[in-house]
Amino acid sequence: MELSNFKSFLGQPIYEDKNALIYQGDSLELMNYIPEESLPLTITSPPYNIGKEYEFILELDDYIKWIAKWVNQVYCCTLPNGSFWLNLGYLSIPRKAKAIPIPYLIWDKVPFYLIQEIVWNYSAGVAGKLFFSPRNEKFLWYVKDSKSYIFNLDDIRDPNVKYPNQKKNGKLKCNVKGKNPTDVWQIPKVTSGKNRSSKERTTHPAQFPVQLISRIILASSHINDIVFDPFLGSGTTAEAAIKNGRKVIGFEINENYVNISVQRIKNIHFDENKKIKQGNLFDIITDNT
Ligand SMILES: C[S@@+](CC[C@H](N)C(=O)[O-])C[C@H]1O[C@@H](n2cnc3c(N)ncnc32)[C@H](O)[C@@H]1O
Repeated sequence: MELSNFKSFLGQPIYEDKNALIYQGDSLELMNYIPEESLPLTITSPPYNIGKEYEFILELDDYIKWIAKWVNQVYCCTLPNGSFWLNLGYLSIPRKAKAIPIPYLIWDKVPFYLIQEIVWNYSAGVAGKLFFSPRNEKFLWYVKDSKSYIFNLDDIRDPNVKYPNQKKNGKLKCNVKGKNPTDVWQIPKVTSGKNRSSKERTTHPAQFPVQLISRIILASSHINDIVFDPFLGSGTTAEAAIKNGRKVIGFEINENYVNISVQRIKNIHFDENKKIKQGNLFDIITDNT
């Protein structure tokens, strides 16, 4: 389905252009209007129920039920060969666990088929004295059909091969396009703070790096596909989708975060226009020489 067709189901977005439809609202409400089997790829990171500025803490059972509810909605909207990438962190359970991986709590609540758990490893984070300093989060890669799904390995190969010229029986041992990036991804976090703030940093407290989401988009979708994020936050999924030639539908409940996303999308178009103008200027100069 074309991006603009979604408007006839979802209504008028708060922001739209040829690549993006952004809606402000509760995604569990909005998802009711997305047609069944219409989306190839969903990537998202919901609230972890740990008291961040954008969440109200729920009882654990209610939180799990809430996740199960919207994950089932995502399942209904996903195309038969589509994928769902779910990022989840840790939460504490009094007298049980200081930090239990949320995927342990939902393993039987998700109707998708789980292909793999990806570990996102980074170097920045809190320091531990009575435990190991936490330096990872997980992505669960789900598909609807275990026998038919998109995986563009060549588009995400890691070019940093240790022995690129190694041969076996006269043939190069390594793929010239690079190696499989494995299930542990070392990608720097978006950091804040004086002297160490990442360039892409916004004021959202849980912003993903574009590099991380780009890898998922390249692996699990085709050019012009629509990428959906029901908990858009600062709009990282939108930025990564558009920069990689995809389109995006995003839902976000908080007005400030919606504004951040919209600004990030506009910045991409501004940079593209600037490049085109500079290109034209260069053409004129070369024409005259
Ligand atoms: C973990 S953050 C997402 C961060 C995002 N991945 C990024 O890179 O900026 C979760 C987001 O979900 C939003 N949110 C929470 N409940 C929501 C709901 N019911 N519907 C839509 N958005 C919601 C929060 O406001 C928050 O921005």
